[in-house]
Amino acid sequence: MSDLSHTLEALKEKGWLRVIDEPLDVYLEIPHVAYVEIKRSDSRVLLFTRPVDKARGIAFEMPVVMNMFASFEITQWLFGRHPDELAAQIRELLHLKPPEGILNKLSFAGKLLGLASVPPKRLKGEGACQARQFLGRDASLDRLPILTTWEQDGGPFITMGQVYTQSLDGTLQNLGMYRLQKYDAQTLGMHWQIHKDSSHFFDQYQKAGRKMPVSIAIGGDPLYIWCGQAPMPYGMFELLLYGFVRRQNARLVKSLTNDIYIPEDVDIVIEGEVDPSSLRIEGPFGDHTGYYTLKEPYPALHVTAITTKAKPIYQATVVGKPPLEDKFMGWGTERIFLPLLQTTAPDLIDYHMPENGVFHNLILAKIKPHFKGHAKQLMHAFWGVGQMSFVKHAIFVDESAPALTDYAAITEHILNRLTPKSLLITEGIVDALDHSAPEALEGGKLGIDATGEAQTPTCKVLEDDVLLEKVQALYSDIIALKQYMTHTASPITVIQFAKTAPARHLYDALFPLREHLRIVVFVDEQRNDVANPYMLIWRVVNNIDALRDVWRGDFIGIDATNKSAVDGFVREWPDDVTCTPEVLESLRERGVIECDAAFIERFGLL
Ligand SMILES: Cc1cc2nc3c(=O)[nH]c(=O)nc-3n(C[C@H](O)[C@H](O)[C@H](O)COP(=O)(O)O)c2cc1C
Repeated sequence: MSDLSHTLEALKEKGWLRVIDEPLDVYLEIPHVAYVEIKRSDSRVLLFTRPVDKARGIAFEMPVVMNMFASFEITQWLFGRHPDELAAQIRELLHLKPPEGILNKLSFAGKLLGLASVPPKRLKGEGACQARQFLGRDASLDRLPILTTWEQDGGPFITMGQVYTQSLDGTLQNLGMYRLQKYDAQTLGMHWQIHKDSSHFFDQYQKAGRKMPVSIAIGGDPLYIWCGQAPMPYGMFELLLYGFVRRQNARLVKSLTNDIYIPEDVDIVIEGEVDPSSLRIEGPFGDHTGYYTLKEPYPALHVTAITTKAKPIYQATVVGKPPLEDKFMGWGTERIFLPLLQTTAPDLIDYHMPENGVFHNLILAKIKPHFKGHAKQLMHAFWGVGQMSFVKHAIFVDESAPALTDYAAITEHILNRLTPKSLLITEGIVDALDHSAPEALEGGKLGIDATGEAQTPTCKVLEDDVLLEKVQALYSDIIALKQYMTHTASPITVIQFAKTAPARHLYDALFPLREHLRIVVFVDEQRNDVANPYMLIWRVVNNIDALRDVWRGDFIGIDATNKSAVDGFVREWPDDVTCTPEVLESLRERGVIECDAAFIERFGLL
């Protein structure tokens, strides 16, 4: 079993661990270091040996580990195999049929016996995670180096908590990874969103008027936390996936003050109960969309016990703008879940979620179309299945397309096949974190069918400065213009303007230039750089709601500006997540981080 301290020793030997002995503050400093590190091309796991809370004069005993999934290489090593290998095994199991012939029968039995490692085992007695026990008033969250990541955050948050829950009748177990806000020494906010399994369990307790037991584990084998974020179907305990990937049963012990079982080798366990009769305001929190999620009511947990290993390590992550640790965790999930997705979409060859699409905002899918409308059929299948239904924008190509991860080639392939007719705009559920839909939880969906034949380019492309001048002659307040992929049938023109009226006015004003335009993306003056396509894609797929913001006239218009009363938008529009300049500067001066102006610009740090 690879517990956290053994994992760290092995990472150190491999040169994949950076140990930082300088005392650093749990308020902003430690998260800022991890945020910068994960964006580097050679990012490593970080161990902060001396976390402190400067404001309260506390030096914590336990170290903080961050960026555990720091790279593709480290993630593959943590899995023990390439995720594609695991996917192949799942595919084989899904197609198992009772065989004929003695040799085939033996190999069939072998495969089934291999599955004996899948179910978690419940052990008797206490586990290593219960070496130190704090009950009653001693069960204080102040013992833990809980981080405050961003200036506008509502407080400190546990960001890598494995949340273990069970259904009211005790027949179903669940492990989910949800952030947890520390309100005080004995109260945590439970940010399980409405679509998630623990929220369904919570509904059962609420209806029955019963308190809900919850245990939160931190640390242990890093695969636990990966399993916690994996989109397993409702009713399937994520630790079954753990047993399958690790080829070893998860070994569980009972919590001290409730009936929830947790892995015996985790570093820290927070036990408690949720009173379903009252909710508390949770947030704001700088989230993995790169925006703050707004204040919302969520259930709160009253802590009844904290137990730890003899020498516990506190694990955390930092979220914000991409790339983040979830790029590497998500890669594992994407690969391993392909065969399962193929059971509901059999003609799906492959799919990919680019990191700057923050997973639910953009998906690329390669299919083998057999009939007219096949791509559209699969779009609806995606939007109707589990957590895949959060995806806002889905682009479908056929088997003639290049690899989905070859971004330049795949973009060219798509743009050569895209016409206003290739767009399907509809409605569905959206991720609870989505800020752009006119109402929370429901919003526009955009599907692009790029499975057809390549179009002949007809756009009369002008130089950027010539086009800019013509646009400026038609509309005031234009700041910058840049065209991309001008050699394709659908060049993309990005126009930045100082927004005082809806972008639709500018789109309409561009009508005389229609022979020079195919796709026009509008961005506003705030923190956008028309020469930074990585962050532009992030911005566009975050900010648009296809029903409102995509226009199919003589050319396609996409309004990626921030929305406000000017647009008739009545929800609060959140801020981008940005670093605190003084914290970055101070860490740079002390030599804890290296990041120059180009790096800051490239990833929208400020
Ligand atoms: C870093 C990170 C943070 C997350 N935070 C939350 C969160 O606060 N709330 C939530 O509902 N899901 C969050 N998720 C997504 C869930 O972990 C994921 O949807 C998981 O499959 C939920 O499990 P469940 O379906 O068993 O509830 C997060 C994922 C990651 C990678």
